[in-house]
Amino acid sequence: MAFTIAIDGPAAAGKGTVSKAVAAHFGFAHLDTGLLYRAVGAKVLAGVEPVEAAKSLLAQDLERNDLRAPEVAQAASKVAALGEVRAALVDFQRAFARRSGGAVLDGRDIGTVICPDAEAKIFVTASAEVRAERRYLEDVSKGHETSREAVLADVKERDARDMERAEAPLKPAADAVVIDTSTLSIEEAIAQAIAAIEARHKA
Ligand code: C5P
Repeated sequence: MAFTIAIDGPAAAGKGTVSKAVAAHFGFAHLDTGLLYRAVGAKVLAGVEPVEAAKSLLAQDLERNDLRAPEVAQAASKVAALGEVRAALVDFQRAFARRSGGAVLDGRDIGTVICPDAEAKIFVTASAEVRAERRYLEDVSKGHETSREAVLADVKERDARDMERAEAPLKPAADAVVIDTSTLSIEEAIAQAIAAIEARHKA
């Protein structure tokens, strides 16, 4: 059986955590599609041309340990604005979405472009300030040197680029359930997502 759960939202809204928990709850496979763009961004920082980087992406490129670095995130959001880069990554994502046994994909355009027919769609969001604070604490815990101001500026810059681009801009699908995690604990956000998916599943 194929069952696709699309989870979209801006940076650091909690969609990665929610997606992993939802996948574990339903026993589905999980794909963090941001990693694809980060891997392309990392290759571009190393001098590869963006479209070539996307077309030649290998599974091992997703295992690099520098993909969470802030400069790779910025490079990812720049290459993600290129239609040809996005097009090169579509087939892999759609094949993953329809694998038997069920799949959770998280990203920016899963419910709108990659899987418009997904059985369940969630849009996880939070205020820019709350997201920046979470990302700041995460960066510091990983030993990245940064400041609250720099992280907030980075989050806002990436939001603007992701929402204003012509190709697959970040926005909730018309039929997505929106979960604002600004004042929710992780457990509450996960519980709301599971309840929303179960409600869709029964409908
Ligand atoms: O989710 P994450 O922060 O890892 O994504 C990094 C960047 O990749 C985002 O800022 C966005 O520009 C891009 N991205 C995208 N579409 C996706 C997933 C990520 O454009 N489905």
